[in-house]
Amino acid sequence: MNVITLASRKGGSGKSTLTAHLAAFAHKLGKRSLILDADPQGSLTLWHSLRRGGEPPLENAARGIDRLIAHAMIDGVEWVFIDTAPTLWVVVQEAIRAATLVVIPARPGFFDLAAVTETVKIARERNKPYAVVINSAPVKRDEKEAPAVAASRAKLEALGIPVWSGQISQRAGYMASLAAGFSAGEVAPDSAAGQEVARLWSAIERSVAAIRGAQADAGVMHSRAA
Ligand SMILES: Nc1ncnc2c1ncn2[C@@H]1O[C@H](COP(=O)(O)OP(=O)(O)O)[C@@H](O)[C@H]1O
Ligand SMILES: [Mg+2]
Repeated sequence: MNVITLASRKGGSGKSTLTAHLAAFAHKLGKRSLILDADPQGSLTLWHSLRRGGEPPLENAARGIDRLIAHAMIDGVEWVFIDTAPTLWVVVQEAIRAATLVVIPARPGFFDLAAVTETVKIARERNKPYAVVINSAPVKRDEKEAPAVAASRAKLEALGIPVWSGQISQRAGYMASLAAGFSAGEVAPDSAAGQEVARLWSAIERSVAAIRGAQADAGVMHSRAA
């Protein structure tokens, strides 16, 4: 089972938005998915209440992650997506501890980057793979990213922080689809927003495969050494 935890100290960076679009995308691909809403604000719970059929399922995790993760494992869930609050309280720490990969959304700009380093510190302390996703970026022109995005990317890379090579742009479609209980990939898979989510999903799948591969290699090395 793979656990993707969306975390960042910064409110409004895009945790809930990306959790919803990614989880709906994985579900649409036929992956057995579960959303954990660990933010007492309950943005995702609201979105989920608008979805007919209620798929993928959502559980309220504001009071803890571990028990729900254990149940999901027993139930044969393949992908768990955890939306967290913009704090460092205990449930967020738990969500990071449970993660296969921590995804840290950040808007381009100085203040978001400051919040990123706090979340990175926690992931590093717990030896958790993590990556920043630049969200709400100005739309690319002629395939070129905006100066603010390039500058943020350069700054993060200088700090040794892995950053997804793509971007999630600022697009009305992200908000409008969620407001109607859908996701970008469901409303219009071929739209620019739908394609960005698809690319982000592929990157996450590749990262998780690499993480699993590295863990397996480490296991082999371990058993050889033993
Ligand atoms: N890529 C995007 N394009 C347009 N609006 C966005 C985008 N990402 C986030 N938003 C909007 O910004 C606000 C904050 O995003 P949200 O996902 O709730 O952040 P967080 O969960 O990190 O606090 C929401 O109103 C959301 O609709
Ligand atoms: Mg949120």
